[in-house]
Amino acid sequence: MALTEQERNEYKQKITNIANSFQSKKANDHLRSRTEEAEGRLEFWQERASTLSWFQKWDQVLEWSYPDARWFVNGKLNASYNCLDRHLDSWKKNKPALIFEGEKGDHKVYTYKELHAEVNKFANVLKSRGVHKGEIVTIYMPMIPEAIIAMLACARLGAPHNVVFGGFSPEALRERINDTKSRFLITCDGAYRRGNLLRVKENVCAALKEADSVEKVFIVKRANIDIEIIGGRDIWYHEAMEEAGEDCPPEIMDSEDMLFVLYTSGSTGKPKGIVHTTGGYLTGASTTLEYVFNMKQDDVYWCTADVGWITGHSYLVYGPLLNGATIVMYEGAPDYPSKDRYWEIVQKHGVTILYTAPTAIRTFMKWGVSYLEKWDLSSLRILGTVGEPINPEAWNWFHKNIGGGRCPIMDTWWQTETGMIMISPLPGTNLKPGSCVAPFPGIKAEIVDKSGQPVAPGEKGFIVITEPWPSMLRTIYNDHERFKQTYWNTIPGVYYAGDGAKYDEDGYFWVLGRVDDVINVSGHRIGTAEVENILIEHPVVAEAACIGKNHEIKGQAIVAFVTLREGVCPDSDLVELAEELKKHIVLRIGAIARPEDIYLTKELPKTRSGKIIRRILRDIAEGRMIGDTTTLDDGFNLEEVMKNILVSS
Ligand code: WTA
Repeated sequence: MALTEQERNEYKQKITNIANSFQSKKANDHLRSRTEEAEGRLEFWQERASTLSWFQKWDQVLEWSYPDARWFVNGKLNASYNCLDRHLDSWKKNKPALIFEGEKGDHKVYTYKELHAEVNKFANVLKSRGVHKGEIVTIYMPMIPEAIIAMLACARLGAPHNVVFGGFSPEALRERINDTKSRFLITCDGAYRRGNLLRVKENVCAALKEADSVEKVFIVKRANIDIEIIGGRDIWYHEAMEEAGEDCPPEIMDSEDMLFVLYTSGSTGKPKGIVHTTGGYLTGASTTLEYVFNMKQDDVYWCTADVGWITGHSYLVYGPLLNGATIVMYEGAPDYPSKDRYWEIVQKHGVTILYTAPTAIRTFMKWGVSYLEKWDLSSLRILGTVGEPINPEAWNWFHKNIGGGRCPIMDTWWQTETGMIMISPLPGTNLKPGSCVAPFPGIKAEIVDKSGQPVAPGEKGFIVITEPWPSMLRTIYNDHERFKQTYWNTIPGVYYAGDGAKYDEDGYFWVLGRVDDVINVSGHRIGTAEVENILIEHPVVAEAACIGKNHEIKGQAIVAFVTLREGVCPDSDLVELAEELKKHIVLRIGAIARPEDIYLTKELPKTRSGKIIRRILRDIAEGRMIGDTTTLDDGFNLEEVMKNILVSS
């Protein structure tokens, strides 16, 4: 299975050529003619698209009517066919596609042939219960193989999936079901996390109380617990699978047909349903995985992201399967049963590529190197990070202790909306700890000021994408106007990512973080407005404002400032009240939105026009003002503001 020395060298040369041609660009180097570049870009993506299997070839690479793009116009293909069927003609049919590692140590391997059979069977199950092309199916699952099988079965039928992260609350699930009006839901009885049993089906029942659209619920048996089964609505997955045939022809989909919708937080309260289509998305996910991780046929690839996020979609499921890779999927927590679980998995399965998040790396750093000693990590050859900026200290720790000083780290910048890695080094690029280096081949990303002019090295600006790319979001589900306003109108003419960044003297990109009201907690996006809206629904809360404070492990943590309604007795136990408010948020959104601190205060600092001054809240939360009595520009005396704070927890 291993590549020959010559093949390895050829591959290295290919990567180096690409790196040189695309990544030598300096910040202000606009010498190359745009037309020439555009032609090169389209040619590149066209060549990449032809590595997929199409039932019918496209007749135009790109149709661009700002800000609406159609890629590979009139091309026909199927995502599940590309991930599975086309590998079955070769030796790959007996290659492991998926190695599942359960939290309790159980593991299961599916070859491409076996995964194909499961997906076909489940597609038949769905089809026989009424799922058809265009029907949005919601998936609410933990990290088990059936989550992947469900996604691919939907794709096989041309039914877009709507995966909802398993850690979300019933209310968050309900909101996503109601927005898509899903008639079908795929879930499980229970799940394991850090040794605890999570009663997933109970959450589902709670969510469905006010989600009338759902007609059928498919339930995977994972935890073997007693659950309520509602006759006529609930169907056991394993029972339905027993009767299902192994052959379900893939639906012929247009390149621009919707493959999935995935909700993400924005700066307003309502999460946005990001819509991705088929041909362009698959081209982007497949190409980036192959190039960024230099994917070879003997690699064992482990992406630690949950299927509920975009990284799970593009780089746990679609990207690797399109490349015929062997995927490791781990169900549980990194510290279960002990803090070396990840390293045990790397050794056990001989993982060669590890793609994870900076927050995880900082946690491992805190736990210390003693947890690594027992394990042989020499199989690793490339590392990757995503989700938030990685601080050089964490980068160096990862490089030295996990990568043994020999594995390059691909710091990949991208978003739910971009669908694929947009800014990243390639193996062979000169790396700088903390920099995601340069745009991927075929991507035009720049750092500009508010008026859209490129900034000079060292100056702060905003990341924009100046040309359409294949896996770009096509719309926000049910809200095309919001799509145009949010992404294409802040700096007219270009896609506005919502991230601040700067170039260094060599033109390398350094991402500084979100510049909007989105907090990035451990790589998860949470809108301040979402948390604020939930807080003010609590009967004691009059007003609420949330900010992100810097956090050593999580990158950012949520801090909420809350004023109480009149009549709420300030002498009651305010610490308890603050705790109750934290619980209220966990219950309504999920544990990822739990505030680190809650300040109960008599007043919030506001401008004359009534706008909350979040900068002051950030100063307070990060402890910058203690003992500082300076009067601020806004006419605020911090000491006065502080006197208003009743309690912090
Ligand atoms: C942040 C995750 C710095 C960024 C794929 C972006 C990063 C948001 C990086 C998207 C990185 C992602 N360096 N920041 N390498 N990667 N981000 O939609 O703020 O969950 O806007 O997609 O994560 O988060 P999302």
